[in-house]
Amino acid sequence: MKFSRRLDLLKPYVFVEIARIIARKRSEGIEVVSFGVGDPDMPTPNVVIDRLVNSARDPVNHRYPETDGLPRLREAIASWYNSRFGVSHLDPTSEVLPLIGAKEGVGHVAFCFLDAGDIALVPDPAYPVYGVGTMFAGADVYTMPLYESNGWLPVLEDIPVDIAKKSKVMWLNYPNNPTGAVADKGFYQKAIQFAKEYEIALLHDAAYSENVYEGYKALSIMELDGAKDVSMEFHSLSKLFNMTGWRFGMAVGNSEMVQGLFKIKSNLDSGIPQAIQEMAIEALSGSQIYIDQNNSVYQSRRDKLVRALNDIGLKVTSPQAALYLWAQVPDGYTSESFTARLLDDLAIAVTPGSSFGECGEGYIRLSLTTPDNMIDKGVERLLSWKNPSVSGG
Ligand SMILES: Cc1ncc(COP(=O)(O)O)c(C=O)c1O
Repeated sequence: MKFSRRLDLLKPYVFVEIARIIARKRSEGIEVVSFGVGDPDMPTPNVVIDRLVNSARDPVNHRYPETDGLPRLREAIASWYNSRFGVSHLDPTSEVLPLIGAKEGVGHVAFCFLDAGDIALVPDPAYPVYGVGTMFAGADVYTMPLYESNGWLPVLEDIPVDIAKKSKVMWLNYPNNPTGAVADKGFYQKAIQFAKEYEIALLHDAAYSENVYEGYKALSIMELDGAKDVSMEFHSLSKLFNMTGWRFGMAVGNSEMVQGLFKIKSNLDSGIPQAIQEMAIEALSGSQIYIDQNNSVYQSRRDKLVRALNDIGLKVTSPQAALYLWAQVPDGYTSESFTARLLDDLAIAVTPGSSFGECGEGYIRLSLTTPDNMIDKGVERLLSWKNPSVSGG
């Protein structure tokens, strides 16, 4: 068989690998505590499920959906942006597009902007799909390294002018996966200015804007003046309403950019099953109380885990947002060797920071989407770790 070069360049998706390792351990009778993938353990709200069940019985929902979704759905997305972020300027007809999960849109959007040899500015560490989409389009990644010393924000001044001139896309993601960092208005303003100056499509991934703690309020880039001239934002119901399994996301922003993605998608997919679109309408238009309820659970898990990690000598700061702890591995370890040590000694699975890019080396990521009883087991195992040798490999 003659496969594409693209397939060779593609590494196995990190969470597929982690799931395989966990399954193997479990088949050996070992109870693994997994802090791996960010997949909410709490159920989708009942009202949202009820809407699915009722909609599934209606034959109108049994046929091909439209790629751009029901007009009522696009209106519900625009209204949610208004009630949540005070963004009242989104036109549901041309500036809103439902996605089959944010991942799908994040991957496909590369085809709107990038051809072979083009450049995309991609943060490191980052959600891997920004780079993968770039590679699929035959374009090259120029890495914007993220360091703790700059609050895990890229230093835009460090991007060489000749690279900026050639770049067609910049990816940003705040609240950030994997670091948990957040961005303020000043940073977004600078990014918008940069994108305008160099005619770059600014793609912001806001999938974690609602996973926030102690009253922190994350911004949508759409709140900023001039954002809609150059940018598009990706969002998702996955982490808002525990809906990873239903696959629903959305893109909003500049109409030409949104319509570009629509053109790509309409040639590739036939939209989101309408009964699932009805779920999204229910989730976005109904009570938002579930978001706060989830956040208080995540916050208590965050606090327990941060304490335990600090107690065994790991450096980790308590994030204001997102669903992850980003902990520094002890001296003498790499991300992978410490991940392996946790798995072998404690049957605890985490994600090595290096799987989010070279700058993630030296860190591990722990997801807070682990059920409370397993969080407690994980904490117990960490605290009773007799010989962690955290000061030497
Ligand atoms: C930063 C980021 N963007 C997008 C996604 C994908 O979300 P969805 O479940 O809507 O595809 C994830 C999932 O973990 C993510 O971490």
